[in-house]
Amino acid sequence: METTGRQRIELQKQAAARAALDFVAAGTYLGVGSGSTAALFVGELAASGITPKGAVASSADTGRLLAEAGIAVVDLRDVGRVPVYVDGADEADGELRLIKGGGGALTREKIVACSADLFVCIVDESKLVDRLGSFPLPIEIIPIAAVHVARRISRLGGHASEREGFTTDNGNIILDVTGLDMRDPIALEHEIDGIAGVVSCGIFARRPADVLLVGADAGVERFERARSPRQGEWP
Ligand code: A5P
Repeated sequence: METTGRQRIELQKQAAARAALDFVAAGTYLGVGSGSTAALFVGELAASGITPKGAVASSADTGRLLAEAGIAVVDLRDVGRVPVYVDGADEADGELRLIKGGGGALTREKIVACSADLFVCIVDESKLVDRLGSFPLPIEIIPIAAVHVARRISRLGGHASEREGFTTDNGNIILDVTGLDMRDPIALEHEIDGIAGVVSCGIFARRPADVLLVGADAGVERFERARSPRQGEWP
């Protein structure tokens, strides 16, 4: 039977998820992100026989998946840092900067990514882009700030719409934003995160991935970022 486009993407995600096991050591902590690719990673981890000491989950959903897989879920406050964080993304560029938050877990994902020594991002090849910005940018905000943030976003050239019927694990709402110029994602991340009422935005440029594993039909391509001396001092 012919493989459909959807099945191809699924196989690519699975391959990237499996490749991330190379970065996980038994008896240590790790962070696990959210979304369908991160969920595949949890399955691969459970099947691998590698027993981590425990895992920090970036969402309630991932916490449930980890617990079902028999992996101890630990609180980031108790472990402080994690040696490695594995998560998916909605877009990734050549400098390993990302857009995340399609599943709405961006704030906890950013916190765990910034608390990780190594951030391993796992994606299928459709997520690789020359320039970030086609995927609507998720921004988690405090509910009463909706009008204020939307106005500020509009001054930046973007259009914000509230994600309907969605509340984050932190009790907040998400604005999905189109039309922003992302030629300088670090500056834009800084600017948006500084708007009153914004909890965090889904640009991961100040803390990009360290390793990007891209599942493709021919196998998994691995990209690595030249690490700066600032490693370990993320915002
Ligand atoms: C969750 O909030 C997101 O950041 C996910 O990592 C991102 O949306 C990728 O999800 P998929 O792996 O389901 O494409």
